[in-house]
Amino acid sequence: MYPTIRLRRNRKHQWLRDLVSETTLLPQHLVYPIFITEGHGVREEVKTAPGINRLSIDEMLKDVAKAAKLGIKAVALFPVVPMDLKNEGADEAYNLDNLVCRAIRSIKNAEIEIGVICDVALDPYTIHGHDGVFKDGDVDNDLSVEALCNQALVLAKAGADIVAPSDMMDGRVGAIRDFLDDEGFEHVGILAYAAKYSSKFYGPFRDVVGSKVSLGEKGKATYQMDIRNSLEAMREIEFDINEGADMVMVKPGMPYLDVVCAAVQNFDVPVFAYQVSGEYAMIRHAANAGCFRFEDAMMESLIAFRRAGATAIFTYAAIEIAGML
Ligand code: PBG
Repeated sequence: MYPTIRLRRNRKHQWLRDLVSETTLLPQHLVYPIFITEGHGVREEVKTAPGINRLSIDEMLKDVAKAAKLGIKAVALFPVVPMDLKNEGADEAYNLDNLVCRAIRSIKNAEIEIGVICDVALDPYTIHGHDGVFKDGDVDNDLSVEALCNQALVLAKAGADIVAPSDMMDGRVGAIRDFLDDEGFEHVGILAYAAKYSSKFYGPFRDVVGSKVSLGEKGKATYQMDIRNSLEAMREIEFDINEGADMVMVKPGMPYLDVVCAAVQNFDVPVFAYQVSGEYAMIRHAANAGCFRFEDAMMESLIAFRRAGATAIFTYAAIEIAGML
């Protein structure tokens, strides 16, 4: 006991603080999400989240090459689909030549040494902005699962290394696994957005992809998780692992680190966490208002993800932070 024991002794020098530190943050722990848009030479900033851009494929390739050079191991691709290609059935999602498929192929053709993760969910392609197929006033689970299998197959055919269902339909991980295996894509991994909450923090993302249009009063509350629950998150994660998920995701990140921590303690698969657009925007806007330096606060938040036990973190700040590391 004090005064014999003095915990401040281990904090006296920088070298000593480094020596006894419990957590590491390295570029290999970061995944860089990228929004792709049609066109050439396009690098469009999003007003609600300065620092997040829409990139045409040629500009995207520059960022992907930069990420690889900095030691980032994977990018996550999200298409910004032109309004006239969206419809009720999300038909563009099954087009082997759609924007995201062209983006995947361009990364693979450029032979950049980096993993390509692709979102499986219909929201960029539907007019209402929901992640699945709408029927009788709600997103229909089983019809959506069928659609998501087809979307996952198209992404696998285009060369995606990992498909990441972010839709929260029941049973989609097992269905996608079977479907991909039957079609000869048993080598393609599944990162399951297992505990994805119905969160306000997705606001800027929905601005970027234009999926906010007509989500309706209840938003995605009938399929994304209720923010009050964490035991339910463990059930979601358990289901997805049993259905064949190679890794699971908790999302959003920072307000949900309790869920990340519980997932890490309860399961033996890699647990990823997503620092979503709204979290990024909060740090960015606060920094712009002079509250702190963006890099410092961002670094602290990402270390907190790792301290909670996250294997890897999706963050829009991946390139900036990897550069500092
Ligand atoms: C779509 C999807 C969303 C995000 C990732 N995939 C938005 C949503 O569910 O409405 C959010 C990511 C972010 O906010 O950064 N299924």
